[in-house]
Amino acid sequence: MKKDFLCLTDWTVAELEAIFDLTRDLKARQKRQESHHLLKGKTLGMLFEKSSTRTRVSFEVGMYQLGGHALFLSSSTTQMGRGEPIKDTARVMSRYVDGIMIRTFSHAAVEELARLSDIPVINGLTDSFHPCQLMADLFTVIEHKQDYRNQTYCWIGDGNNMANSWINAAAVFGFELRIATPVGYEPDPGVRSRAERMGARITYTNDPLQAARGAQVLNTDVWASMGREQEQKAREKAFTGFQINREVLEVADPECIVLHCLPAHRDEEITDEVIEGPHSVVFDEAENRLHVQKAIMATLMK
Ligand code: CP
Ligand code: NVA
Repeated sequence: MKKDFLCLTDWTVAELEAIFDLTRDLKARQKRQESHHLLKGKTLGMLFEKSSTRTRVSFEVGMYQLGGHALFLSSSTTQMGRGEPIKDTARVMSRYVDGIMIRTFSHAAVEELARLSDIPVINGLTDSFHPCQLMADLFTVIEHKQDYRNQTYCWIGDGNNMANSWINAAAVFGFELRIATPVGYEPDPGVRSRAERMGARITYTNDPLQAARGAQVLNTDVWASMGREQEQKAREKAFTGFQINREVLEVADPECIVLHCLPAHRDEEITDEVIEGPHSVVFDEAENRLHVQKAIMATLMK
């Protein structure tokens, strides 16, 4: 039966660790310039209803390196943008390509696409989740800290798709997560209660320093995600102080690493000094999107 990659909680620890093992292997093979055509002759359709730099480039390059081909399809130049229903797009795409990566607004639309497609569907970001980013983030932690399940993770900022994905990751892998958001910008209650039922160790606060104290992995994201641009001004007010800066690093573990999925708004959610400083691993993290997604595609589409 085909499997999709929509949400981390659909996968077991063993399955996700197998993806990390394959990532390590594919990354090493690529660095040695050894061919690794695990998807020779296969095609990935990439549907984009939101902007992207990393996701688009890493999936397209990744597919090429695996011996396959990727098609960039944006809503503005396909019939999706003119209202063709997702259920028709799903069935048509299933007859042309071997896998679909989609970036869109509604997570329910991606679930519908997956239900109606005969081929694997990969979530390249919805308003609710960004699971490929989480896999790259965790792989980066593995590279820098080895024992990623015994680190304390801290999220400072918006309770957005990335925060929801960290909650899922904490629920699946069992690590300690602390989330600091402004009042009114907490993560999705449904995501929180599912994690609670799964026994996740997560604390929620409105105090960034409390969340960061002693933490080994610090993480943040823009104050206004794609689709929320018109809230930027109001959010700038609400999010003052929800920033990874020198003061936050002073209370965190002295060996901490700093993640950011990028794009970053310097001196809003993170200072220029921190993102360019010695604790920041954001470009390793961005690179790992390529390696992790190759492993995800190979796992689903081989
Ligand atoms: N982190 C991330 O998904 O980046 P893009 O929006 O550039 O794809
Ligand atoms: N939370 C951000 C992530 C971008 C990769 C957004 O959805 O815009």
